[in-house]
Amino acid sequence: MKSVPTMFLATAAFLVLLGMIWGIQMSASGDHSLSPAHGHLNLVGFVTMSIMGIYYALTPAAAASKWVRAHYFLAVGSVVILVPGIVMALTEKGEVLAKVGSVLAVLSMLTFLAMILKFGFGEKA
Ligand code: HEM
Repeated sequence: MKSVPTMFLATAAFLVLLGMIWGIQMSASGDHSLSPAHGHLNLVGFVTMSIMGIYYALTPAAAASKWVRAHYFLAVGSVVILVPGIVMALTEKGEVLAKVGSVLAVLSMLTFLAMILKFGFGEKA
């Protein structure tokens, strides 16, 4: 398995590539109705996960924690559920997925906060 920072950063880059293709499709079609979902894919998927990946690269003690894989799957899971959930909410097909994704996103950020408080910033393993 790849290192923790690589997993976070490679996933972030993959997600923003999807977000960019989606943005180009929106521009080309002139239909911007799903732009909040595109924005969340890029911000929760790319910006947030990149910051987490850089944190883990700079803080090996946190990257070595037993909780880090749970954090990764929470972070990815929140994007994978939240973004289609926003699409469903925007197209009036229900809000359950968006609600579940939001809770996962909060749990992911709470895990990140716990990591920072427990391991600090820049601490060696
Ligand atoms: C190839 C790259 C991209 C293209 C072609 C693109 C295209 C678009 C388009 C057409 C809109 C709708 C604008 C409107 O209706 O006013 C939009 C909205 C947005 N984009 Fe992108 N985008 C790209 C990359 C990004 C990236 C990298 C981010 C963030 C890191 C981002 C964040 C946003 C946000 C926050 C919105 C506003 C969403 C909203 O109004 O709810 N986009 N983008």
